[in-house]
Amino acid sequence: MKNLGSYSCLLPFYFCLAASASAAGAEDRAAAARQLIETRCVICHSADLIEQQRLDRRQWQAVVTKMRSWGAPLSDAEAEDVIRYLAQAYPPDGAPARK
Ligand code: HEC
Repeated sequence: MKNLGSYSCLLPFYFCLAASASAAGAEDRAAAARQLIETRCVICHSADLIEQQRLDRRQWQAVVTKMRSWGAPLSDAEAEDVIRYLAQAYPPDGAPARK
């Protein structure tokens, strides 16, 4: 009977896992975008050059479009994820809202 307590804990534990799995989509996309920046953008310059910028979405879009025209290897979908991530992580005002 000693084990009963720990078994009854399994149910909330699984509920918790299911809930965090549904929230994971946005996290995964941010992580994937960060990964893209760390592999595709740093072939020409350091990440510092990117991270010190504070731009709005339209400006990030212009930067990424310019970098792609210079040779940054990103598909349209990858560029879209990178732009979304940069606009959220490095907005014009204040400290970066990095996760
Ligand atoms: C083909 C080479 C290349 C790649 C790949 C590249 N960049 Fe650049 N980037 C440059 C050059 C060259 C500059 C100008 C550097 C300087 O002024 O010292 C620059 C400058 C920048 C700047 C400074 C602002 C500006 O507009 O000049 C930002 C921000 C930037 N890059 C972001 C990115 C991001 C984000 C990526 C990935 C999507 C990326 N870069 C990939 C070549 C590249």
